[in-house]
Amino acid sequence: MRQGAVAGIIAVWPENANKTGLPTRTFPVTLGAANPKKEVVTMEFAELIRRRYSVRAYQRREIPEEVLQRVVEAFILAPTAANRQPFGLVVIHTAGREAELRRIYPAEWFVQAPVVVCACGLPEKAWKRRDGKNYCDVDVAIAMDHLILAATDEGLGTCWVGAFDPEAARHVLGLPQGVEPIAFTPLGYPADAPGKKLRKKAEELIHYERW
Ligand SMILES: Cc1cc2nc3c(=O)[nH]c(=O)nc-3n(C[C@H](O)[C@H](O)[C@H](O)COP(=O)(O)O)c2cc1C
Repeated sequence: MRQGAVAGIIAVWPENANKTGLPTRTFPVTLGAANPKKEVVTMEFAELIRRRYSVRAYQRREIPEEVLQRVVEAFILAPTAANRQPFGLVVIHTAGREAELRRIYPAEWFVQAPVVVCACGLPEKAWKRRDGKNYCDVDVAIAMDHLILAATDEGLGTCWVGAFDPEAARHVLGLPQGVEPIAFTPLGYPADAPGKKLRKKAEELIHYERW
């Protein structure tokens, strides 16, 4: 019975979201070619996800424009429910804006990097499951994680920031009605070193066949 219900929900998923008449304007993506002059040799994925850590001290060193563009492109390449892409990314250059950015999140390291980005959701544009669950935050999180892993691959540090002041974010970034700030990260070259990864044991988190 329960399985049937789940199958029903899957059945309404569009075969090809671009052909469903959804109010999403989509375009073929023309993205920058991978740059052979990248400073960091592209890592194996397994190494990349181990290397990423929350960086809480940054150098002032500028990010080359082409590096920033590749990182931003990763956000666009992320999958979204029904390909709705119900989001936007605000790229903020921190120089001269430190005081107002600190109103959003007061940590000193938040404004040390040359760039801070804010991933925003547009819940009204997001796909909703038949039972009403809105997938906006899921879509934004996936896109943000794409960006964060691309940044890691470029030798840049990041730190997810969710504990920000949403009112200050709305005001400082000029977010219109319907645009919700979900997560920030600084983008910059790390000035600290990774600590030990603290994680729960696999037995506590991974379930096979049933919970
Ligand atoms: C959704 C989300 C929100 C987070 N918000 C904050 C935050 O506001 N401030 C902060 O210092 N770290 C924040 N973090 C970072 C986590 O503390 C960090 O990812 C976790 O402790 C694991 O450490 P690691 O990223 O170094 O592996 C956030 C992480 C996630 C995924």
